[in-house]
Amino acid sequence: MKLYNLVTGTLASLTAAQTPAPYTDAKSGITFNTFQHSSGLFFGLALPANATGNTDLIATIGGKGSGWSGVSLGGGMLNELLILAWPNSQAIVSSFRKTANYASPAVATGTFTKSSIANGTYVNSTHWTYTFLCQKCIQTDGTTFQATDTAPSIGFALNSNAPSQKTNPASSVSKHTAQGQVVFDLSKARSEKFNTWRAYAAPNIARSFEG
Ligand code: HEM
Ligand SMILES: *[C@@H]1O[C@H](CO)[C@@H](O)[C@H](O)[C@H]1NC(C)=O
Ligand SMILES: *[C@@H]1O[C@H](CO)[C@@H](O)[C@H](O)[C@H]1NC(C)=O
Ligand SMILES: *[C@@H]1O[C@H](CO)[C@@H](O)[C@H](O)[C@H]1NC(C)=O
Repeated sequence: MKLYNLVTGTLASLTAAQTPAPYTDAKSGITFNTFQHSSGLFFGLALPANATGNTDLIATIGGKGSGWSGVSLGGGMLNELLILAWPNSQAIVSSFRKTANYASPAVATGTFTKSSIANGTYVNSTHWTYTFLCQKCIQTDGTTFQATDTAPSIGFALNSNAPSQKTNPASSVSKHTAQGQVVFDLSKARSEKFNTWRAYAAPNIARSFEG
């Protein structure tokens, strides 16, 4: 599409620059402010109504086919908290990643944890979907957006090819074939129902295939 920019007076060509919009996953019933990419990648965010001091979020991440989908909670690739996921048959394999270089990011460790939400995690005939409670995933060290941000940029990246070791959450991946950053209006991610939804998450101990 062509957009006329009133400020600079230039014509910009955008390839379907989707604005995140509220989307309710029919299987979990959770509403996310969700970005959808033309490849099938999607990323949705749910947050508590009260932003002050919050460190937690619920995310849904998915795609089509057997490739990987990745998200940067800080926007760019380098030195930000990344989340990487892909399907392995009927299961989803996921991990936190971080890297200082433009290369396959290493598994990241820290205080952050993720716990899957069972009915929001599935593979259907068109997509795979991973939904999880991400605790301590809003960090104050510059690797993620901030709790009181109103419109941070969140990064995404994908490759339609499966990682080389798709059963291993620490597998290396090939470089993305598409990537970008999207402004998220966090007011559309906040909900009074967050505490109800967060209780859907399995205890950490029950995680499988998650690094
Ligand atoms: C071998 C693996 C990877 C390589 C070599 C790589 C390389 C790069 C490079 C060179 C860029 C700068 C833009 C460009 O030149 O294309 C970039 C941007 C980016 N990458 Fe990666 N990357 C890899 C894996 C990943 C993964 C696994 C994720 C997410 C989980 C990721 C997320 C991003 C994001 C969010 C950007 C920024 C996009 C933007 O600012 O528009 N990358 N990457
Ligand atoms: C998803 O599972 C939770 C319990 O874990 C349940 O309370 C909720 O109603 C389920 N969502 C739907 C849409 O059935
Ligand atoms: C929001 O959370 C903060 C920190 O827990 C608390 O001090 C504040 O009273 C809460 N605000 C509302 C409106 O509940
Ligand atoms: C499969 O799940 C995705 C969300 O992950 C949904 O958008 C799509 O409509 C579902 N497809 C079918 C055939 O149910």
